[in-house]
Amino acid sequence: MTNTSTPHHVAIVMDGNGRWASRRFLPRIAGHKQGVDSLKRCARACDARGIKVLTVFAFSSENWQRPQEEVSGLMDLFAMALGREVPQLKSDGVQLRFIGDRQGLSGRVLKGIAQAEAATVDNHKLILNVCFNYGGRWDIVQAAARVAAQGLAMTEQHLNQAMALAHVPDPELVIRTGGEQRVSNFLLWQSAYSEFFFSDKLWPDFDEAELDLAIQSFGARERRFGKVSGQNEAGAAPTVPN
Ligand code: FPP
Repeated sequence: MTNTSTPHHVAIVMDGNGRWASRRFLPRIAGHKQGVDSLKRCARACDARGIKVLTVFAFSSENWQRPQEEVSGLMDLFAMALGREVPQLKSDGVQLRFIGDRQGLSGRVLKGIAQAEAATVDNHKLILNVCFNYGGRWDIVQAAARVAAQGLAMTEQHLNQAMALAHVPDPELVIRTGGEQRVSNFLLWQSAYSEFFFSDKLWPDFDEAELDLAIQSFGARERRFGKVSGQNEAGAAPTVPN
């Protein structure tokens, strides 16, 4: 039995910005700037296809180890993009959520995050979760610490409720662009039963046609959730309380 429905939640590792820039003899930050435009197009395309949640990996816990110039360029770009794009995202009905460790972020970035979240909190057309200073291992550890601090039993349900993405169901489809086929510490907990789609397109080149290919591929998968063929209703997600 195949799964013909459009995914409710799509998550993306936006990889390949640096290579996109290098191939054009441009500085890597030029690729990240194109990456912001690609993200805007992708959010609109997801909304047009009835996808309700888009989660993207914008800056990982490990990205601090990049050259200082690139890290500060990414922080500047992030703060500038927030200031510039929030009014449009707000009027498009997008709710922005920032997922990750707030420690270590500058006052400017923290202010941009707080303003963007406050400005879009009442929007419900598309939830855009931006994973920033995020790692899947960080999320599991912070969730476990919260469960322990509350004196609750360390159960799957309690951990699930303490995870940083507890406000949305798990992603049915995880896309990684840029040709690499690895998880890179993204959504380790939440992707337990996700379908993966690896695209050779570099993130700035990711377009509607490639998104449609990913959705088509998802539609052709049989999702068994550990059961045997035919036991699940088509497209049914596992019932994990959030
Ligand atoms: C990976 O490509 C991409 C990143 C580490 C940054 C992604 C960030 C954006 C698209 C900007 C997001 C901005 C906002 C406002 C949400 P890479 O640099 O690893 O590329 P490479 O593998 O070709 O070197």
